[in-house]
Amino acid sequence: MEQLLKQIEGYKKDITSFSATDDKQVEEFRIKYLGTKGIVKAIMSEMKNVAPEKKKEAGQLLNEFKQCVEARFAELKEATSNTEHQTSNIDLSLPGDELPLGSRHPVTLMRNRIVSIFQRLGFAVAEGPEIEDDWHNFGALNLPEHHPARDMQDTFYIQQNPDWVLRTHTSSVQIREMEKGKLPIRMLMPGRVYRNETVSARSHCFFHQVEGLYIDENVSFADLKQTLYFFVKEMYGKEVKVRFRPSYFPFTEPSAEMDVTCFICGGGGCNICKKTGWVEILGCGMVHPNVLSNCGIDPNKYTGFAFGMGIERPAMLKYGVNDLRLFSENDVRFLRQFTSAI
Ligand code: DAH
Repeated sequence: MEQLLKQIEGYKKDITSFSATDDKQVEEFRIKYLGTKGIVKAIMSEMKNVAPEKKKEAGQLLNEFKQCVEARFAELKEATSNTEHQTSNIDLSLPGDELPLGSRHPVTLMRNRIVSIFQRLGFAVAEGPEIEDDWHNFGALNLPEHHPARDMQDTFYIQQNPDWVLRTHTSSVQIREMEKGKLPIRMLMPGRVYRNETVSARSHCFFHQVEGLYIDENVSFADLKQTLYFFVKEMYGKEVKVRFRPSYFPFTEPSAEMDVTCFICGGGGCNICKKTGWVEILGCGMVHPNVLSNCGIDPNKYTGFAFGMGIERPAMLKYGVNDLRLFSENDVRFLRQFTSAI
């Protein structure tokens, strides 16, 4: 009996220190202790050598030992099945599945940049129809029917109604805003415009513009310059220089075109600026009194300025795109490149 007790104590120590890291070792444990030729069986057979008066006590001891072994077996099994899970089924160190992200179109990105700068100056955003009537696209903008300036813009006419055109510029939206009769106006009008031009790397039959309009009492050319200076500094950086060249637009008087020092070569001269060091970015001017009158605004009381700029060109320069056609072909290989652009 004494010896049996000692034996059991020894085995108990062994089983608690037995460690298993995989199924194979757990199986070894089972065979060693619980197998048909295992230790538990062997010890049970010792019962026959125990004196009858000690049999009860020994029986309890052996039962307890057997339970101990079984509990340890269950413990080992559980522990290894957990680690098995972690190592074979789920690898927590693997990166997660990638969620495909869409991207904004580069023209949209550039449009948003432009809009957000003017929004900080209090300009609101408005849009108008792409199919316009002659009055909004031309007439009200001081381009009467046979005005030679109409030749500046090759127009798509709608066959069913020659009074309708695909708007050639976003200046038509200026008219729609002024017609509403709510003053003052401080509006930005982005949108798509159409011209009957041969499609090539440098010109397209549709592209995008942003129109700006500010009408109030006492608005001067100085306000126009200050607004556009702010825009250029925000858009192209503080080092960039600006110059205004006198120009002609029927809807503004005086009119100007605005150039900035080439942001590719810094003004030294490159292919983008045709070696001049300057890049033209927009047309602008003081809204012509005839245009104000055409929209029912008193030109003796109100003045204002307007400007219009293309979106594709600055987008091409910013994102290094060398062919206008890429913007409208919807080739995902092109579009995907703007996933992280802002
Ligand atoms: N509409 C002109 C164009 O498409 C751009 C423009 C020039 C808009 C002068 C204006 C402006 O508002 O004042 O080329």
